[in-house]
Amino acid sequence: MLELISYVFGASFFAMMLVGGYFFMGTKGSWLIQRKFYPEKSDNIYWIYKNAVLIWITDRQFIVWLILLGQYSKMVDAIISSINSNTKKGKKVLQIGCAFGNISKRIANECKDSNLTIVDIIPNEIKRSRKKIKKAKIENCAFLLEDATNLSHKDSFFDCVFLFFLFHELPYQEKKESLKEAARVLEPKGKIIFSEFHKPEKKTLRILGWIFFRVFEPHAKEMWEDFNTTEVLNKETPFKWRISTRKYLFGNYQVTTAKKIH
Ligand SMILES: C[S@@+](CC[C@H](N)C(=O)[O-])C[C@H]1O[C@@H](n2cnc3c(N)ncnc32)[C@H](O)[C@@H]1O
Repeated sequence: MLELISYVFGASFFAMMLVGGYFFMGTKGSWLIQRKFYPEKSDNIYWIYKNAVLIWITDRQFIVWLILLGQYSKMVDAIISSINSNTKKGKKVLQIGCAFGNISKRIANECKDSNLTIVDIIPNEIKRSRKKIKKAKIENCAFLLEDATNLSHKDSFFDCVFLFFLFHELPYQEKKESLKEAARVLEPKGKIIFSEFHKPEKKTLRILGWIFFRVFEPHAKEMWEDFNTTEVLNKETPFKWRISTRKYLFGNYQVTTAKKIH
């Protein structure tokens, strides 16, 4: 019996080390390696978001569920329910950042009589998302390889812009530029809808979040303090905004809607 317990314990420990090692190597480890050995190719995006095999391994619903502490579905539902009925017909909708293409399917289905453009900076993210959209027989989507900080569309082109967990990946200045770009390409009365981390109310969550960000997400803590989306929209864009935020898991996450008044 003791032998069986020690086998189970040993196997569980091994599995945890394997999963932990995978995540560390796919994220922070990949950064350290890129910076040391390929400084010219180094960027702020982890291998698990840009290598086709690692994307394939990581893109599992339970992994996403785990990363977002069980809040994924709730936040996606909130995003979908924030879509105006007039956005669903004959409009132009933009999603910045593929995020594996899962939320794109929901947006495309909800706005099936509109056109959804999905932009991402990583070719493999686009490839994977395009494959999913094709498999789901969704036809109202177009993909573009573009940087969120420098979109090619003209001013006021889109009726609605979605950003799903993009800002926390970007350095401070890029966060700001990408939000300003989203504001620029949005037409008056249109909405920016984004999901992101938020400073939790509970001290325990703040401590755990601080550790998680220190190891895995060096730009995410700016979402708690320095990067104030309301301030950027109101002070750094020439438009007026009506902004509302819904918080999830004791304030650990947010779904924010910013309506461009004029
Ligand atoms: C963190 S991922 C979102 C994954 C999310 N955690 C999930 O569970 O679905 C962010 C997405 O934004 C994309 N991205 C990162 N930097 C970008 C940039 N500067 N411009 C456009 N897309 C970018 C990444 O390639 C990725 O598809």
